Amino acid sequence: MQVDYSTLARRYGTPLYVYDLDAVSQKYRELKEAFAGHKSLISYAVKANSNLSIIAHLAREGAGADCVSIGEIRRALTAGVDRYKIVFSGVGKRDDEIERALQEGILLINLESEAEMGRVEAIAQRLGMQARISIRVNPNVDAQTHPYISTGLHENKFGVEIDTAKRMYIHAKNSEYLDPVGIHYHIGSQLTDLAPIREATHIVADLVRSLHAIDVEIRFFDVGGGLGVVYQNESPIDVEAYAEMILEAVRGMDMTIMMEPGRFLTANAGILLTRVLYEKRNGDKRFVIVDAAMNDLMRPTLYQAYHGLLYLGDSAGKATPADVVGPVCESGDWLAKDRLLPPTRPNDLLVVQNAGAYGFTMASNYNTRGRAAEVALEGGHARLIRDRENFDDQIRLEKAYLLDEKG
Ligand code: LLP
Repeated sequence: MQVDYSTLARRYGTPLYVYDLDAVSQKYRELKEAFAGHKSLISYAVKANSNLSIIAHLAREGAGADCVSIGEIRRALTAGVDRYKIVFSGVGKRDDEIERALQEGILLINLESEAEMGRVEAIAQRLGMQARISIRVNPNVDAQTHPYISTGLHENKFGVEIDTAKRMYIHAKNSEYLDPVGIHYHIGSQLTDLAPIREATHIVADLVRSLHAIDVEIRFFDVGGGLGVVYQNESPIDVEAYAEMILEAVRGMDMTIMMEPGRFLTANAGILLTRVLYEKRNGDKRFVIVDAAMNDLMRPTLYQAYHGLLYLGDSAGKATPADVVGPVCESGDWLAKDRLLPPTRPNDLLVVQNAGAYGFTMASNYNTRGRAAEVALEGGHARLIRDRENFDDQIRLEKAYLLDEKG
């Protein structure tokens, strides 16, 4: 879609997140269609981009939600996601979160330890209910991704070993208060190699076969999220091949395939729009200082992640390497390093590409910077879907009693 970024920047200010909802739909449909002819449920990993409008848009497409806190569950319900399509995952759930999730009647609570199963069972008993559960299996497979977003090895805190999972399923099957209906694995994020996912899928499918043999009726086979996207020159996993591999692994078993993609659906559909403040040089080093910073987009400094840049100014000068940095007081405050950019002028616009996932959701108020506004485009129309945070928004929850005492 042709987007007039300068109009958006003028109308809504910068830094500004802009999401293309049509592109989100396209990704959703691509994945859904790859599983055509088989029961499937795409539960969007809300953590990737939890703006209510994004969740609501995906809910209208038919998506469920993969949530890791009661806050995310409430977002999903508020956005109109069907409660029977909501999964509650995460290694550490508080009692009040478990209780609320059970009362809301969501599809599944995904357990990540025996201790957690004990808690869920006790809470379900107190409420006089049966909790539908799945268990997150850690298949001990190296996902070959950045160590911070790799989750499928025993050294990672996620899930339980196969033997523990078996024990848990047997316990759950015999419990009045637990209904073990699902199995789950997720070995990491930004995966670009099918081989480790295949290995994990077969390990988990074999486990399901042995569970079916002892009458543990697993009906939901949740393959997690993790499908990688192109930021620079990655070759992403072919979605058809992905679907085929999974369907092959579970052949002969009557299960709904669940998926929890986050990045796949939203990353390439979003950008961060920023303005140049000015340039400076320190010795040989050239810096382009912009009004977006690490508090708006953490990925570069946290994961050394690459985000493409588009320069939208009209400078015709010779492009030379520059670091694009923000105003935050940290050397780690950078959005891009050593990129070829022409001499820029104040107010020139830059687009930071592929920022629709783990962009706004990881933003903070560091340096008392208000979080960016968010805009959604649909059929060429722009709508503001989150106001820019102002100073009052930021201090609203603080108690100013020391000030009062003085006054
Ligand atoms: N399911 C589970 C259990 C997860 O832990 C995650 C992501 C997902 C699904 C969605 O994964 P996706 O499809 O988006 O790869 N902040 C990092 C990514 C952290 C991913 C955390 N878990 C980043 O910016 O790269």
